[in-house]
Amino acid sequence: AITVDPSARGAKIDDTMYGVFFEDINRAADGGLYAELVQNRSFEYSTVDNGSYTPLTSWTAGGTAQVLNDAGRLNERNRTYLSLGAGSSVTNSGYNTGIRVEQGKRYDFSVWARAASGSTLTVSLKDASGSLATARQVAVQGGWATYKATFTATRTSNRGRLAVASANAAALDEVSLFPRETYKNQPNGLRKDLAEKIAALKPGFVRFPGGCLVNTGSMQDYSGASNWQRKRSYQWKDTIGPVEERATNANFWGYNQSYGLGYYEYFRFSEDIGAMPLPVVPALVTGCGQNKAVDDDALLGRHIQDTLDLIEFANGPATSEWGKVRARMGHPRPFHLTHIEVGNEENLPEEFFARFQQFRAAVEAKYPDITVISNSGPDDSGSTFDTAWRLNRDAKVDMVDEHYYNSPNWFLRNNDRYDSYDRNGPKVFLGEYASQGNAWQNGLSEAAFMTGLERNADVVKLASYAPLLANEDYVQWRPDLIWFNNRASWNSADYEVQKLFMNNVGDRVVPSRATTTPNVSGPITGAVGLSTWATGAAYDDVKVTSADGSTLLSDDFSGDAAQWKHTGTGSWSIRDGQYVQTDTAAENTMVTAGDPAWKDYDLRVKATKMSGK
Ligand code: AHR
Repeated sequence: AITVDPSARGAKIDDTMYGVFFEDINRAADGGLYAELVQNRSFEYSTVDNGSYTPLTSWTAGGTAQVLNDAGRLNERNRTYLSLGAGSSVTNSGYNTGIRVEQGKRYDFSVWARAASGSTLTVSLKDASGSLATARQVAVQGGWATYKATFTATRTSNRGRLAVASANAAALDEVSLFPRETYKNQPNGLRKDLAEKIAALKPGFVRFPGGCLVNTGSMQDYSGASNWQRKRSYQWKDTIGPVEERATNANFWGYNQSYGLGYYEYFRFSEDIGAMPLPVVPALVTGCGQNKAVDDDALLGRHIQDTLDLIEFANGPATSEWGKVRARMGHPRPFHLTHIEVGNEENLPEEFFARFQQFRAAVEAKYPDITVISNSGPDDSGSTFDTAWRLNRDAKVDMVDEHYYNSPNWFLRNNDRYDSYDRNGPKVFLGEYASQGNAWQNGLSEAAFMTGLERNADVVKLASYAPLLANEDYVQWRPDLIWFNNRASWNSADYEVQKLFMNNVGDRVVPSRATTTPNVSGPITGAVGLSTWATGAAYDDVKVTSADGSTLLSDDFSGDAAQWKHTGTGSWSIRDGQYVQTDTAAENTMVTAGDPAWKDYDLRVKATKMSGK
């Protein structure tokens, strides 16, 4: 039974409570949300990005074609370019199975080229069955200049190729093919189906651009030839301005990132979908397993200044130094930035916090209305997390980001996580969470957990599932909210849950109590008197069902590394909706999948007591 007292007033829920977290992981940007169809368009792929890359990755060459890095380059930030001999050609294969074109739709080609003695480029779209559009002739003469052509596809294909052949010697760079139709038809825009799926969630905010992507790398500036090789951290100034001047970088997730989708595009997209932009800047501590604090005051000072400049880029008048850059890019009005996060999953709490305090002081001095969000560390199971929270609480930080990825069972058991959070401490930004899997069970466990977030909306102010996007052929992380390839995209069960919550954000919580439906209202508070497991037994896929067949508890242990099976040397029971290990000598060891010793057992269990919260 559910008891609701409509006159009682629970927490107020902010419109921005639920949002999305976009990170360029799983090729979420290039080959994903960023609509560019050519892969490695500026010939900047390098073994620094990925051991298997060459500057001609995703290109095939006919005749004399070589990538050069010399004084003949397009500009100092786009250092390599293609040199084509007379009568030579190159062909790009895009992402996944190739370049996707749809019959009747238009595609805009552009290229930077030079040909001292003049040349004609023949540009064509084709697949193994032949032409996909009428070929275009582009006359090139003199030094570097940009040239354009438009195609209308005569057939639909998922395996298209873009070929450029040159009659005489020529140099090419930034070879691009964009669908005319992008989300809201913005120039240098976003792939429509993916952007629409994100927009349909009606997110309250967009956290970007990462994740581990942000707080790893050298933190050094882009400084031309001496330091042009990548693995700098993700720095917003590298990602704005004309695309051919955005120096590409090694992405933390093992590929090249073009930055074609950069800070201007993130702000613009947030505005287009009515969401609050929430950028994350690096704090000069490298996290995500690398755990190194950078001790360089000058570098720290530069990053702090970059953060102030970022706020000016977003909010400053079009006459200010960085507001002018925004205006030049096409957006004289401000983007209304109100929150900024410093750092991500910081494993070194003291080192991080000392740097965070300097960022915070500088931002608060110049922009007192901006909320500066801090971090709580990588997970909640150790002293790193506790230390981080203590530091943040003592310093009266406004908001702290915490992350967790756990089993569905964990999410069911932890519905009450925030019931006991300090009401006078920092507010919570749950910047990343997901139950491990993309099945309905995962979505439902997240939905159950989100009722706990909502009940505590006075403390939990922002929450975003992670990661948002995955290209099925380039996966570094699963589960993910939205899946895609070069021709289609599809939602996970978790997406439907997020959509349900984001499209129905309440104004205020109406306090309620439930009995006899423990899975709806929270963790089981009584005990299920499940029997003891035999000593030495191994078990997996445990499920407890009630007499009417409904599942009370199930665990496939997918939350555990490499799907290990649990081999107890002691005894186990299930109590209060969780597994309880009653013998400290119990171990988890790997059991070979398909081992003939595995058998299904059907245990009849009698509940001794069970009640809802
Ligand atoms: O969401 C994927 C990764 O998970 C993020 O980059 C990182 O912050 C977390 O560890």
